[in-house]
Amino acid sequence: MIISIALIWAVVVGFCCFLWLAVGTRHRQHGEPAVENGLIPYLGCALQFGANPLQFLRSRQKKYGHIFTCKIAGQYIHFLCDPFSYHSVIRQGRHLDWRKFHFTTSVKAFGHDSFDPRHGYTTENLHQTFLKTLQGEALPSLIETMMGHLQDVMLRSDTLSPSKDQWEVDGIFAFCYKVMFESGYLTLFGKEFGDDKCHARQAAQKALVLNALENFKEFDKIFPALVAGLPIHVFKSAYSARENLARTMHAENLSKRKNVSDLISMRMILNDSLSTFNDVSKARTHVALLWASQANTLPATFWSLFYMIRSPDAMKAARKEVQQVLQDSGLKVDPNDPTLNLTRDQLGNMPVLDSIIKEAMRLSSASMNVRVAKEDFLLHLDNQESYHIRKDDVIALYPPMLHYDPEIYEDPYEYKFDRFLDDKGQEKTTFYRNGRRLRYFYMPFGSGVTKCPGRFFAVYEIKQFLTLVLSYFDMELLDPAVKVPPLDQSRAGLGILQPSYDVDFRYKLKSSH
Ligand code: HEM
Repeated sequence: MIISIALIWAVVVGFCCFLWLAVGTRHRQHGEPAVENGLIPYLGCALQFGANPLQFLRSRQKKYGHIFTCKIAGQYIHFLCDPFSYHSVIRQGRHLDWRKFHFTTSVKAFGHDSFDPRHGYTTENLHQTFLKTLQGEALPSLIETMMGHLQDVMLRSDTLSPSKDQWEVDGIFAFCYKVMFESGYLTLFGKEFGDDKCHARQAAQKALVLNALENFKEFDKIFPALVAGLPIHVFKSAYSARENLARTMHAENLSKRKNVSDLISMRMILNDSLSTFNDVSKARTHVALLWASQANTLPATFWSLFYMIRSPDAMKAARKEVQQVLQDSGLKVDPNDPTLNLTRDQLGNMPVLDSIIKEAMRLSSASMNVRVAKEDFLLHLDNQESYHIRKDDVIALYPPMLHYDPEIYEDPYEYKFDRFLDDKGQEKTTFYRNGRRLRYFYMPFGSGVTKCPGRFFAVYEIKQFLTLVLSYFDMELLDPAVKVPPLDQSRAGLGILQPSYDVDFRYKLKSSH
């Protein structure tokens, strides 16, 4: 009897394996890239990829060449590893849908109705809204507002309370989080109580921001799981954190705020006039923008500050540049009257800070550029090869393959603050591979039409932050020989990676101004 039950089970398992092999795995057709189905049904190669994406892709590149296909969480993804072919993908955009992945991911994570006009909930051209409100003429006012908030948070409020006589110890990530979150949040979403000087209202304003920060952190923790497809209801506290954030962004609450950015006020108008979203859905679209504006900026600020403090040469060059810019602008640094302001042109003319930030992001960014095939088509690569791509397959570029390529960046694992400076100390834009000039060598902000619309503001705000900490504070690592914390790979594919642990530093107000 026992033997016959075991036999039945063996037959069932065997049949399932056969079925999976026959139907659940892809067989490479003529003209298609090499395919790896992985050993686990549905997940395919997901676990190996997730453990260390760069190592995984490098090993497959060695085995298969410039392009290969992996099954990851039920999806067939064609990884393109030749940087000279990146442009081919962008040029053949007519076969590729860039909206599908982005819009679906946003719906999964934030729970609003679809932004995709094809789904019938809105006719807003979101891309145009972003370009209008985050770039060009929108930038000066964003920059000015951010600079004011940064100085308020660093020097006027009790967030830091630095003194001249005593060192304050903090984690660098914790420090960046507090300062950048509050400043960025107020810049986009305005202040509930305006610039009211009443102490109780100031305290209430502060409590609102701290609440938002805690909710953001709680939600952000599980973001990779949501993108992977897990339902948010599995994570009770993250769900209530997201809903708490959304509640503060209901139209009736947002309309009470002063100095709301053009991005948010325009989106409120367009939500009302062009969409059929209900109030909750509208509020959740604002949560999505809060996340987009903070989730990468916070770790990018950490890495920029961490690497700068850790490198005496970087600190020296950055200090010199900042002092020069302030001097040329006739600005005086006074922590008792913190009203420094730098224009877009002045910030744009700081190549050392630019290079410090770029190098930090080169080492920490892991955003995957993703497009979905709208139809079966032939993908032409730079080396004249062509590959058949099936409808609904994904084409992915993984920029760390570039950022850590020793043929493009010498000693790619080393931080060199001046890597993006040319012989004249200006921005370096020429990078080569095998003697051939690269068009794509630095891609933390994505590529093509989906390239981050907030990228100019992001770099300006990190520059503003660095300018201010260099101007107002003396800073030191507690352990000058501290090792670089490993990158937390749980967000690989999603943007700038966080450090696996924080690094302590100390700061105090400069004694001589
Ligand atoms: C260092 C900071 C930042 C990094 C590294 C970054 C990176 C990215 C990346 C990789 C994407 C997706 C691009 C793609 O899929 O090809 C993206 C999208 C986006 N980012 Fe950023 N970002 C940063 C800061 C910001 C800021 C400060 C804002 C707004 C104030 C912002 C707003 C957005 C928006 C709205 C999108 C979605 C665009 C769309 O779907 O059309 N980002 N960002």
